Amino acid sequence: MIHPDVTRTTPENVILRLDSLKHTLVDRDKKQCFTVNVAKPLEFYAGDFIGLLGPSGCGKTTLLSILGLLRKPTDLDYVGRFELYVPSEPKGDARELVDIRDAWARNDVRRIESLRRTQMGFALQSGELVKSLTVNENIQVPLRLNGWRSDDMRERVQDLLGQFSLTRHRDQKPGASETTLSNTLAQSRINRLSGGEYQRVSLARAVSHKPSVVFVDEPTSALNRELAHNALEVLRSLQRERTMPGITFMITHDEELATRFCNLIVRMAPRRGEPEGDVVDVVRTECQPMAENGLENS
Ligand SMILES: Nc1ncnc2c1ncn2[C@@H]1O[C@H](COP(=O)(O)OP(=O)(O)OP(=O)(O)O)[C@@H](O)[C@H]1O
Ligand SMILES: [Mg+2]
Repeated sequence: MIHPDVTRTTPENVILRLDSLKHTLVDRDKKQCFTVNVAKPLEFYAGDFIGLLGPSGCGKTTLLSILGLLRKPTDLDYVGRFELYVPSEPKGDARELVDIRDAWARNDVRRIESLRRTQMGFALQSGELVKSLTVNENIQVPLRLNGWRSDDMRERVQDLLGQFSLTRHRDQKPGASETTLSNTLAQSRINRLSGGEYQRVSLARAVSHKPSVVFVDEPTSALNRELAHNALEVLRSLQRERTMPGITFMITHDEELATRFCNLIVRMAPRRGEPEGDVVDVVRTECQPMAENGLENS
C-alpha cells in the first residue's frame, strides 16, 4: 500500500528544483580545479527521501552544498531553474515559490541565509555540533535561531531525544528505572559522546526546527545496522508526517540503506580523465509498502 500523502510528482508538490548546474571548485594553492555538472533536471517532491550515491571525490558533498544554499554556484549562466517552494505561513499549507537563482544573481544574502535557517537542516560529514555545549543545548540551537518559545523548545528536544534513543543515562544499565532529563545523556557535553551518539544528536539537531529540507551526509556511518535503520526510520517519518511533507536528501555509500529507504536515487560519477563529476542518473521508484518501511498503515 502506498502512502496516500507523499511523493506525488505533481506540480503542486514540488519542493526543490535544480534544472542544470556547473560549479567549479578552485584550489589556488595547488592550482587545481574540480567541476560538478548537473545536466539532468533534479526535481524533489513533498515526502521524497533522496539517496545521492557515487564514488568518493565525484562531487556529492559539493552538490549538497549548492542545493542547501551553503555555496553560490560559480557560474549562474549555467544554472537553469533553481527554485524552492516554502510554506507561506508557518502552519498553513499554502506555498510560495522562491527563485533561488534570482536571489543569488541579486546577491541577496539575507534572503538566502533566512531560507537556510528556516527551511533547511543539516547533518554533515564535517560534524558541526558545538563542543562546548551539551547535547540538549546543541539540539536547541536551530530552535533558538528561529525564535521558538522555551516551553516548545523543551518539549521538542525531549521528543527528539526519545525518538533518536538518546534518553538513557550514560551509566545506566539496560532495564533500570527511568531517569530524569537532568541526569541523562542530554546533559552530556559533546566530547563525551560515542561516534554513534554523536551522529544521532546531529540528526536530532538537523530536524529540530522542522525544516522543509533535511540534508544528511553519511549520517549513519558510525551506527550498526539496527540503529541505522531506526535513525533513518525516524528521519523519514518526521519529514513525511507533517502538514506539508518535507524532503530528506541523503548522501550514502550504502546501497542497502539507499534501496531500503530512498524512493529517488541520484547517481554521480567522475568524468574519465577530467577533474569533473557528473550527475549521471536520476531514478524514481514507487514508495515502498508502509509495513516494510515502518510507517503506519492507514
Ligand atoms: N577547493 C577545492 N578546489 C579544488 N578541488 C576541490 C576543492 N575542494 C574539493 N575539491 C575536489 O572536488 C572533488 C569533489 O569533492 P566532494 O567533497 O564534493 O566529493 P564527495 O563525492 O563528497 O567525496 P566523498 O565521498 O569522499 O565525501 C574532490 O575530488 C575534491 O578533491
Ligand atoms: Mg563528501
